[in-house]
Amino acid sequence: MSNAPAFAPIDATLGAVATGVDLNDVDDDTWAHIHAAFLRYGVLVFPGQHLSDEAQRTFAYRFGDRMEGRATGRVSNQRRDGTITTEKDEAFRLQRGNEGWHIDSTYMPLAAKAGMLSALKVPPAGGQTEFADMRAAWDALDDATQTKLTGLRAYHSLYRSQRKIGFVHSTDQLYGFHTKGAPLRPLVKRHPETGRNAIYAGRHAYGIPGMGAAEAEKFLSDLMAWACQPPRIYSHNWQVGDLAVWDNRCVMHRAAPYDTNHPRVLQSSRVSGDPATELAPTSVDPLAEGFEPQASAQAAG
Ligand code: OGA
Ligand code: MN
Repeated sequence: MSNAPAFAPIDATLGAVATGVDLNDVDDDTWAHIHAAFLRYGVLVFPGQHLSDEAQRTFAYRFGDRMEGRATGRVSNQRRDGTITTEKDEAFRLQRGNEGWHIDSTYMPLAAKAGMLSALKVPPAGGQTEFADMRAAWDALDDATQTKLTGLRAYHSLYRSQRKIGFVHSTDQLYGFHTKGAPLRPLVKRHPETGRNAIYAGRHAYGIPGMGAAEAEKFLSDLMAWACQPPRIYSHNWQVGDLAVWDNRCVMHRAAPYDTNHPRVLQSSRVSGDPATELAPTSVDPLAEGFEPQASAQAAG
């Protein structure tokens, strides 16, 4: 018989801190407790785990399949040689982008189910990872806004979300995704395992069919500003060795800014969504403004 981990709820609508478990050694019984807590709390923090990359992979892919093209790897402001990245590095620009509230991989046809980060190097100040509970946000919406949101869809594009903050990426960057069209996703997501509704938007969402571009932009940014407020947010102050995992189907996250002269290195694993529930139809970006998706990518799609 294994010992069940203890989950101490965080003082917010989401999140719990898990102790009494060694993630190197998760038997089926322990896994059942962790998975139930993951669905209930949306974010689990496991302090002091210091997992190897291999052990993190093993734990992460209990949640689901590895995300195609997104192997477990570093989220780091250091280059391989240890020098610090600058705006010239794509990774630096993508990490500045991570400072806006988002859901992972909504700009890919198959969005992520879960995200996992663990801390290898932390800066002396800032650099927290923050989480926002989109189930509680949905529940707190007034009836009129719930009705308005139901049935609305938005396009998602990493190219556009990066461009909005001043970073224009080229076609061989951003994993090649902005040449493959923009997934169109409902703004309300019913969780496939819990049945709870959540607001499903974030920084990659930009255009709403049936609404003008400027109106959609304001609607989405007002919605995010309202949703990502206490008591629905938790900011995790990293200690080296901590691991956090979140349910990407109902939780948004972002990185807090920090002085990028200090190293910040996290190990990231992204878990693929389920094609039955996280796969979106993809179409040509309707607001492309001079950008033409490649004919070959469309034909192949
Ligand atoms: C990510 C991400 C946030 C952070 O890796 O997907 O958003 O705190 N990271 O680095
Ligand atoms: Mn992210």
